[in-house]
Amino acid sequence: MSQLQPSASSARRIEQMFSGIVPWYDFLNRSLSLGQDVYWRRALVQGLRLPPRPLVLDLAAGTMDVSLEIMRQHPQARVVAADFSLPMLLKGQEKLTARGRPGIVPVAADALALPFADRTFAALTIAFGVRNLPDHAAALREMQRVLKPGGMVAILEFVPPTRGLLAGVYALYLTRLLPLVGRFFSRHSFAYSYLAESILNFPTAPAFARFMAAAGFQNIHWQTLTMGIVGLFYGVKDEGELPPADKAVS
Ligand SMILES: C[S@@+](CC[C@H](N)C(=O)[O-])C[C@H]1O[C@@H](n2cnc3c(N)ncnc32)[C@H](O)[C@@H]1O
Repeated sequence: MSQLQPSASSARRIEQMFSGIVPWYDFLNRSLSLGQDVYWRRALVQGLRLPPRPLVLDLAAGTMDVSLEIMRQHPQARVVAADFSLPMLLKGQEKLTARGRPGIVPVAADALALPFADRTFAALTIAFGVRNLPDHAAALREMQRVLKPGGMVAILEFVPPTRGLLAGVYALYLTRLLPLVGRFFSRHSFAYSYLAESILNFPTAPAFARFMAAAGFQNIHWQTLTMGIVGLFYGVKDEGELPPADKAVS
């Protein structure tokens, strides 16, 4: 599977990058996507199948737009919003306070080493986060670990479009226009070139769905939105997962 090969310090660099663009993050999401990002997150949560009063992990939660959408569609849920950028979480916390959303708990955590026990969550969402994780296989394993058997994972991510003409035009937008606009507002020279590079290096939607299957998720279904530039991926952790050896019933 294609993915960025980060240097040893890249996780730190990515954390600093997101922390550095916090003031402009929500504004640039809305404007650079022409408002589509709101619709993408809504669609992600609409595809979630949840039991009554579920505990949901929103991973790479950033400023918590997905966490808020989960609470909007499922007011009986409780959401843990995890991200390794404290400034992103603090920005999200302002929105929680403003909207009076007590059901969301922010937690500073690395997606590759989550501070949660095995089988904690009924479902897990991650929007525009997987692409930033250096080891996709390790990330999917960690997601499975914290999910309950039968728990659903819902992944929203930019994917490289596969249709010829659109792919060319979109690549031009990503590599030329988007870094210019992003740099102008955020004053961050790296963030929006990185965004373009990481999208173009991400697997295509069918390839990522196959990767989820290879990682052990079941009942995988997926679709692309907005002319194929965004993928929605769903999978379920195996119901019949064996208990860990130390908890096996003899
Ligand atoms: C593009 S933002 C997406 C935020 C949010 N989910 C949304 O829909 O707007 C990616 C987020 O992933 C976080 N992130 C990247 N790598 C991470 C990691 N290894 N562990 C936890 N969070 C990570 C970043 O700090 C950032 O907040």
